Amino acid sequence: MDINEKIKRRYNRISGIYEAMDKMIKEEWRLNLLSKVSGKVLEVGIGTGANLPFYPTKTQSLTGVDFSKGMLKHANDKVSKGNFLFPIELMEADIQALPFPDNTFDSVVSTCVFCSVPDPLVGLKELRRVCKPTGHIFMLEHMRSDNKFVGAVMDVLNPLTVSLWGANINRETIKTIQYSGLVIERDSSLMGSIFRDLAVSPNKNNVKEES
Ligand SMILES: C[S@@+](CC[C@H](N)C(=O)[O-])C[C@H]1O[C@@H](n2cnc3c(N)ncnc32)[C@H](O)[C@@H]1O
Repeated sequence: MDINEKIKRRYNRISGIYEAMDKMIKEEWRLNLLSKVSGKVLEVGIGTGANLPFYPTKTQSLTGVDFSKGMLKHANDKVSKGNFLFPIELMEADIQALPFPDNTFDSVVSTCVFCSVPDPLVGLKELRRVCKPTGHIFMLEHMRSDNKFVGAVMDVLNPLTVSLWGANINRETIKTIQYSGLVIERDSSLMGSIFRDLAVSPNKNNVKEES
């Protein structure tokens, strides 16, 4: 079975208990991150829709994608029961091959997603591609600690977290973001150096596009 299928199945398996077990992201972190989005918004790896209550009224429209049908089912339930002031479209799609033209979205959001995207570099390049040159990418992501001891413990535990729920806890996501051509404009640490609240520019005006 290929790695995409494996990760997808893990999220399908845990979708019913995901929100009960995932208390890592504090609601105030979500609220703070989402207060910055506006316009036409894409949320990648929307999961069970935990961010939905926190979108501000300056959101013009929201498109949410996830490759796990199980997780999306819960997000769909929230959308149908909620009373949202902007149109929401949810779809099954892979972050590594987003079904949108270049330069489509004003804001792109990811929360706790790049720990499990099978090829994070490909996924980040897709975020860059679909974000307008004037747009921004807002991320709340956990990653390998800068602390030598804590980082080493995360390396040891990583195979376990991957096999249980598909998430890597030792990715060096800041380096991958930089390598993808994106530019980090704000980087706030929320839990030592493990959780980061990031505002990222697609950096399309200053660099020569790859052919
Ligand atoms: C840890 S959950 C986070 C869910 C949600 N963003 C939140 O904050 O609660 C990670 C989500 O990313 C999704 N995901 C991982 N890799 C993906 C990919 N390549 N394409 C689409 N969704 C992906 C998983 O299916 C899962 O729903």
